[in-house]
Parts: sequence; structure tokens; C-alpha cells
Amino acid sequence: LEWSYLEGDGDFMSDEVIKLRDESDIIITNPPFSLFREFLAWLIEGKKKFVIIGNMNSINYKEVFPLIKNNEIWLGAGKNDGRNVWYQVPDDYKDFHKEENGKKYAFVAGTIWFTNLDHGRRHQPLPLMSEKDIIKFVTKKPFESYENYNAIEIPKVKLIPDDYDGIMGVPISFLSKHAPEQFEIIWQASGNTKASAPKEILKELGYKAHPKDKGGGAMLNGKMKFGRILIRHK
Ligand SMILES: C[S@@+](CC[C@H](N)C(=O)[O-])C[C@H]1O[C@@H](n2cnc3c(N)ncnc32)[C@H](O)[C@@H]1O
Repeated sequence: LEWSYLEGDGDFMSDEVIKLRDESDIIITNPPFSLFREFLAWLIEGKKKFVIIGNMNSINYKEVFPLIKNNEIWLGAGKNDGRNVWYQVPDDYKDFHKEENGKKYAFVAGTIWFTNLDHGRRHQPLPLMSEKDIIKFVTKKPFESYENYNAIEIPKVKLIPDDYDGIMGVPISFLSKHAPEQFEIIWQASGNTKASAPKEILKELGYKAHPKDKGGGAMLNGKMKFGRILIRHK
């Protein structure tokens, strides 16, 4: 292993670091969250393979979401219990949060891996039940439609029916389980949907502005559902 000091301050936008980027095969890092959009654009511009940590909120950014929709980037296959992503830490690290099978792990709330490296988890389809069985055995009531989208509300990922042909709104946690062979991501229902979604997609979604939707959030019974992803079976 060889190393040397940088000439400049290490700003990723500097010519010196851009040159290093261009020489690299893969970039693995924890970039400054405040510059997440710029850093991602820098990776894409360099046509690099990458695995980076970001804040889950970055998923909704208008610069990030279209890349996820188009399967150009996706979430990593990290240890994810649905609430947190767990990062393995060195054995001598004191501030770890749990130990499993002799390995120490810590989490940083609200963070997740973003990558364009393929992995096996994203090719495992979710096991799902039929709409009829979900209603009969779990929810005991039919699925409800949003007031401002031509889509039904799915409150939990495991309640996605396997035989519904229309558009479904699912929680953001879906993206950690998404297999592109199983579902098409149409768009997101969030505060920037009206401004950022192409017109033909808004039409496909049957979007009708609602006075309380803050620019495109999915409305159900007068209340906005936080961060929904709009999907359809393939
Ligand atoms: C989330 S921290 C991660 C630090 C380190 N990779 C780690 O895992 O401990 C982000 C780092 O990016 C650095 N940073 C901020 N702006 C930068 C820029 N324009 N170019 C390069 N690095 C930057 C910060 O100083 C900080 O050390």
C-alpha cells in the first residue's frame, strides 16, 4: 500500500481529487450529507461504481429519486432491520450498539447505503399474498384509494397484494426490498412530486392537486401519508 499527501485541501471538486476519481475503479465513502446531491452528481459524471452512505431523506431529493426510479442507483444490501442500517465496526471500537456472533455493530439513525453495484438481495422477489387473502386474514377491510392519485394505499410492505394490477403507494422502506424484476417504480408521492415529475407521469398517476398535499403528498381521508413510493407489478 502506498500513499502520499494531497497538494490541496481534498475538496472533491478540485482537479486533484477529480483526477483521483477518474483513476479509481470504485468509490466507497461516507460523503458530507450536506453535499450529497453534488457528490452523487460527481460520481455519475465520472461514470464510477460506488457504495456511499447517505441520509434516507436523500431518497426524495429531485436529483436522486429519478436515478432510483430508473434503476441506475439503488439501496445497498447492508444489515437492515427495517428501522436502522447496522454498520460493522472494528473489535476495539468502544461505542458499538450491539454484538452478534462475535461481531460489533453500530448504527447511525436515518442513514443507508446507496450504490450502483449489483447485489443478490435486489433480485429476490418479495413473497406476497393475494388481495383477497390480505383482506380476509389481515386487514379485514378493502384497500383505500388516495384522494389525489389513482392509486391505493398500502400501509406496510408485507401487505402489497401479489395480484393487484393498478398503482400502489408503499412506504419508503419498500426500497430496501425492491426487486426490479417484480415491480416498476412509477414515481414518489412527496412534497416535490408536482414540481419534479414529468407531466406524462402525473397523468399516468391521475394526480389531482389537493389543497393539503404540500406539492404532491398522497392524501387519504384528509391526511397526508408521509413519503410514499408509487409502484406497479411488472
Ligand atoms: C460524514 S463525514 C465522513 C468522514 C469519514 N469518511 C468517516 O467515515 O469517518 C464527511 C467528511 O467529508 C468532509 N468534507 C466536507 N466537505 C468536503 C468536500 N467538499 N470535499 C471533500 N470532503 C469534504 C468532511 O470534512 C467530513 O470529514
